[in-house]
Amino acid sequence: ASGLGGVAEASGRYVGTAVDPGRVNDGSYGTILDTEFNSVTAENAMKWDALQPSQGQYNWTNADTVMRRAEANGQMVRGHTLVWHSQTPQWVQNLSTTQLRQAMVDHITTVMTRYKGRIAHWDVVNEAFNDDGSRRQSFWQQKLGDSYIADAFRAARAADPSAKLYINDYSTDAINSKSTAIYNLVSQFKQQGVPIDGVGFQAHLIINQVPSNFQQNLQRFADLGLDVAITELDIRMQTPPDAAKLATQKSDYQKSFAACWAVTRCKGVTIWGITDKFSWIPDVFPGQGAALLWNESYQKKSAYDGSVAGMGGT
Ligand code: G3I
Repeated sequence: ASGLGGVAEASGRYVGTAVDPGRVNDGSYGTILDTEFNSVTAENAMKWDALQPSQGQYNWTNADTVMRRAEANGQMVRGHTLVWHSQTPQWVQNLSTTQLRQAMVDHITTVMTRYKGRIAHWDVVNEAFNDDGSRRQSFWQQKLGDSYIADAFRAARAADPSAKLYINDYSTDAINSKSTAIYNLVSQFKQQGVPIDGVGFQAHLIINQVPSNFQQNLQRFADLGLDVAITELDIRMQTPPDAAKLATQKSDYQKSFAACWAVTRCKGVTIWGITDKFSWIPDVFPGQGAALLWNESYQKKSAYDGSVAGMGGT
């Protein structure tokens, strides 16, 4: 790979992006996608509502498109995501306990089998915790109880033994109640032999608020014998951007990459999109955005150089 992915490759790591296959013909989107990254994550195309909108009826079109383009470019793929409370169709949520447990295993098995050996990392379970460290009271939790997470990982290992299996969450970048709850769960998994390989830290951050103990937090998980990764990095600001905010953002990207690069078991950083033109942020946080490495006209921001510097490049 060239670009950011090329820099990462030098240390056996990756820099990835989230991709929307509907945008690849917009401006420089496709070129940046193909040349700057050595890993990709489907932003939406591998979620449950995209893959299995009604029971037993799979739609692989967009997921296959993402997969084939990545393979044509020699990029790794992070699978995102198998078990989540969001973007999961109503039919799943309406199932009885017994049916739901079966549907979870069936979905994991079918999806992972289709891409067996081709998806390096899977986010098996996404966002299962509340910020206070308690379990999120999702339909998964309410119907299946605590054991659904371990069950999902067992089904995932059986479906594709070559994939690295991750639990993934947000607001877990610092050492806090939520990251500690995940730490306790994965420690238990290691003791009990539940198959898990890694922990993903989404890192949807705000300028000037990169946690000072980000590296230390990643390291405590690595010390359990797990891989770690920054899986959905973006660093937002109040829009419009100005020179001062962009300079802060540059240094924040540098700090985030450096936190990963300082931890041997940190496998890479995925940025949650390419251009500020397309990002989930303004929809969810009105008045905020400009969180990515290319601006709305596909010009590189200084945050790009900050990222390279964080990887020890120049
Ligand atoms: O597909 C429909 C389309 O048919 C419809 O016309 C349109 C109208 O709003 O909506 C389209 O669906 C949107 C979908 O993205 C695909 O574009 C949804 O409204 C929109 O809510 C959805 O947002 C995604 C969001 O996850 C949903 O939770 C974002 O693109 C995606 O970036 C975001 O990603 C999540 C990660 O998966 C998990 N971690 C947090 C991260 C940011 O929220």
